Amino acid sequence: MCGIVGYIGSKNATSVILTGLKRLEYRGYDSAGIALANGSLTVCKKAGKVVELEKAVKAAQLRGTLGIGHTRWATHGAPNDVNAHPHTDMENTIALVHNGIIENYAAIKQRLQKQGYVFRSETDTEVLTMFIHSFYTKTKNLEEAVRLALCEVEGAFGIAVVSTLEPNVLIGARRGSPLLVGVGEGENFLASDASAILQHTRNVIYLQDDEMAILTKDGYTTKTIDNETTDSIIHEVEFDLESIEKGGFDHFMLKEIHEQPRTFKDCFRGRLLASEGTVRLGGLNPVLDKLRRAQRIIFTACGTSWHSALVGEYIIEQLAGIPVEVEYASEFRYRNPVITPDDVVIAISQSGETADTLAAIKEAKLKGATAIGLVNVVGSSIARETDAGIYLHAGPEIGVASTKAFTSQLAAIMLVALYLGRTRRLSQRDGMEIAQAIERVPEQIQAILDHSSQIQSIAKKYAKAQNFLYLGRGYHFPVALEGALKLKEISYIHAEGYPAAEMKHGPIALIDENMPVVCIATQDEIYDKVLSNIQEVRARNGKIIAIATEGDTRIAEFAEHVITIPNTLPMLTPVLSVIPLQLLAYYVAVERGCNVDMPRNLAKSVTVE
Ligand code: G6P
Repeated sequence: MCGIVGYIGSKNATSVILTGLKRLEYRGYDSAGIALANGSLTVCKKAGKVVELEKAVKAAQLRGTLGIGHTRWATHGAPNDVNAHPHTDMENTIALVHNGIIENYAAIKQRLQKQGYVFRSETDTEVLTMFIHSFYTKTKNLEEAVRLALCEVEGAFGIAVVSTLEPNVLIGARRGSPLLVGVGEGENFLASDASAILQHTRNVIYLQDDEMAILTKDGYTTKTIDNETTDSIIHEVEFDLESIEKGGFDHFMLKEIHEQPRTFKDCFRGRLLASEGTVRLGGLNPVLDKLRRAQRIIFTACGTSWHSALVGEYIIEQLAGIPVEVEYASEFRYRNPVITPDDVVIAISQSGETADTLAAIKEAKLKGATAIGLVNVVGSSIARETDAGIYLHAGPEIGVASTKAFTSQLAAIMLVALYLGRTRRLSQRDGMEIAQAIERVPEQIQAILDHSSQIQSIAKKYAKAQNFLYLGRGYHFPVALEGALKLKEISYIHAEGYPAAEMKHGPIALIDENMPVVCIATQDEIYDKVLSNIQEVRARNGKIIAIATEGDTRIAEFAEHVITIPNTLPMLTPVLSVIPLQLLAYYVAVERGCNVDMPRNLAKSVTVE
């Protein structure tokens, strides 16, 4: 949520920053801005996407070798030119970009207004800028002014700051919101995530909470905001530029849907020991004992990750017999949950930066629980905050609507469930059967993708619908939720996911001849029950789009459209049944002319509460 890029070196900062902002645009795209600070401060900002900023920057012919840029997801203040970042002080000395929320901004603003500060925007960020300026007038030292201001700030921030009076310094700091330093040769960078600077350097330092970085062209230092020098470890970014490009697909989302045979495999590669029917999870070594003895597992997550947690509940209870609860992170952290040291709390997060999930993990740890992260982004806050974890290895996910991260999360959950099952009640033979079924999944996903054109033509037919209903039972109830979420996120069609049998307690009232109803009806032990639910829809003229098992000869009689998926173990079917739903949402959105990769009002990584 909000993207930050900072540059100090000898290159044209404008082009470094604009390229970086384009790569970060998936984090937020309400407005964008850039400030260069060589000699004087030049600021250019625009409501809308980075391309609007690019036009304005070209017209203004901005030049310089020190600068900061920002792409915004609005929290305080409407997404217009004035509220866009960077913000400056009244004398145009310092410029600042910010990701996060300054919670005590109103009190600070009042203080500053009494001192004569006048504000142009409605943002908390402008308040922080002026606040730093108020220290700067006394200290005449940017680093010190930033440090003193941050000591009094409550809330979350990732910031980058420059001053015209110190044209050799770029300052960054973070608490809650992610920020890293890119270490180059004769140049250094700040960025919210590595994709922004990958074409310049692979060497990054992930800043810790309450840590600052002071960058010059040729060096850097890091320290806490309490002025203690910190040791910074340089990490090498593993993914390459190709993985953050569209690679011939029209949209990142479609590319990421098509990556799933590989990304699913990348999650279990080297971890699944098929011949022994078990798994090796090196990342969980520090907590294996606790995990084996867990009395209860609590999943906490948001959005799509919460849906994979629901699947996790069913699978772990089935294989290992451990009670599992699933909590929205935003509810968990504020409802004083009962947690004991025998509980294991598993946070699921693609970005590893979701503010609520991060806070939930901190809360669980405070209460003595063991915390595990199933996270995609290496080095992210949740990955660092948890006691142990499993990286998904899905590669960067750029499309705002999560697809490949979901199936990779299911892969990681399967591994945990299989591990726990084998330590408790699952025989080696059963373990082997599951492991072999997991190994077949990538080619089964591919088989579904190979039939995308059928889904595309169904999408064309229903693209004008105003509502959609998604029904599933058992393992497919979370998939119904995920299918509905995908559709509403990117096509703005109202969609609801429901447990198929529960439908008659409400949503059935909505069904008429205009209602497409997607029913997941694979051949498992509740197949006949789902068929009955389908008939209830048919009796009210709803249009059935069924997701069924290959070879099912009965279902066609009950459905307008049948999309088949290969046969697998029931607990693995969500990985397959979700693929047609991702494609359906994608093609409906394209048909409606929606911006699939940047749906309105959403952001990829939600780093505010
Ligand atoms: C945002 C994204 C969703 C994602 C959710 C949780 O809402 O748009 O795609 O599922 O955050 O994000 P996380 O990174 O924690 O999985």
